[in-house]
Amino acid sequence: MLIKSRESWEEGEASVTPEKIYLNRRRFMKSGLMGGLAAGLAMSLPAFASDDRVLKPLNFRHTDFDPGETMTPYNAVTGYNNYYEFGTHKDDPAKNAWQLRPAPWSVKVDGMVEKKGTFGVEDLVDYAALEERIYRHRCVEAWSMVIPWVGVPLASILKKLGPESGAKYVAFETLADRKQMPGIRWPVLDWPYREGLRMDEAMNDLAFVAVGLYGKELPNQNGAPLRLVVPWKYGFKSIKSIVRIHFTDTKPKTSWNMSAPNEYGFYSNVNPEVDHPRWSQKRERRIGEFGRRKTLMFNGYGDKVASLYTGMDLRANF
Ligand code: MTE
Repeated sequence: MLIKSRESWEEGEASVTPEKIYLNRRRFMKSGLMGGLAAGLAMSLPAFASDDRVLKPLNFRHTDFDPGETMTPYNAVTGYNNYYEFGTHKDDPAKNAWQLRPAPWSVKVDGMVEKKGTFGVEDLVDYAALEERIYRHRCVEAWSMVIPWVGVPLASILKKLGPESGAKYVAFETLADRKQMPGIRWPVLDWPYREGLRMDEAMNDLAFVAVGLYGKELPNQNGAPLRLVVPWKYGFKSIKSIVRIHFTDTKPKTSWNMSAPNEYGFYSNVNPEVDHPRWSQKRERRIGEFGRRKTLMFNGYGDKVASLYTGMDLRANF
C-alpha cells in the first residue's frame, strides 16, 4: 500500500510532462517558441514556495563549479521535489512544506568528534564564505536538473567540528516532527530520514552543504535551512533539513537502503552501467528538455571523485 508509494518514482516519469515544468529564466529556454510555451505552461505549477516566508537574498561569490548547461527553472527546482516528510507526490512538498519552521534551528553533533553539542546553523555555516556552485542533480528515478546552489563545502563544516581519527563515516538525520511534517504519519520510510557518507567522500571538495538556491535562502521544500548536496551520487543521498551529524567508525544505516536494500545501495554513485533492478540508468530526462540524454558516469564528476573508488567493484558496491 503506502509502502508502494516508493513506486511514485517510476510514476514520476509519466508526471514529468513538459506542461508542468517551465518558466523562462537566465540560461533556460532561449528560443522564442520554447520561451512562449514555457511561460504558458508555467501557470500549471504551484507557486515557487507555498510558505509565505520571505526568502532573504544571500551574499556569495561565484565559482567555476558550473557545467555550462542550461539551468533548470526556479519553478521546477522548487515545485517538483522529493521530500517524503511532506508527501510522496512531486507537488506535495511545495504544497505542504509551509508547515516547516526552519528558524530557529539546531543541529546535534555527536559520536567520534571533538566538538559535540548542539549548534545553530550560523555556528556551522560561515555565511561570509558562501559560494555559488551550479551542479547537475541526478535523481535515481532517471530525471535530472541543473541547480545553482549557495552554500559551503561540507569539509569546511566537518573540519570545524574535528572528527576523531577513528571516524570513518559521517551520518546525517532529517527532522522528523509530525506537527510540521504531515508525511511523517505514514510509514513510507523508517523516520527520521537518514543518510551517510564515507569520511573521504564527505571531505571531497564537491560535497556541499546548501543554505540557498538561485541566490536566496532555501525554500522549505528544498531542505531549509540546510541540506547536503552530493552531485556525483543519486539525489536521495542529498539529505534535507539536517538536525543531526554523527561521526562513527561503522557504516551508518541509510533510509532507502533500509527500505529496499536490493535497490538502493550505500554508495549510490551515478552509474549508467549499473541499472536499478526495475529500470535502466543509462539515460535521463533533463527537466525542461524533450527526449532523453545519456547519463554520465559519476554524473560527469569523475575527474574529481573516481579516485575515491579505485579498486572497488562498483557493481557490488552500488
Ligand atoms: N531528504 C529528505 N529528508 N527526505 C526526502 O524524501 N528525498 C531525496 C533527497 N533528500 C528526500 C531527501 C531525493 S529522492 C531527491 S531526488 C532529492 O532530495 C531531491 O532534492 P530537491 O528537492 O532539491 O530536488
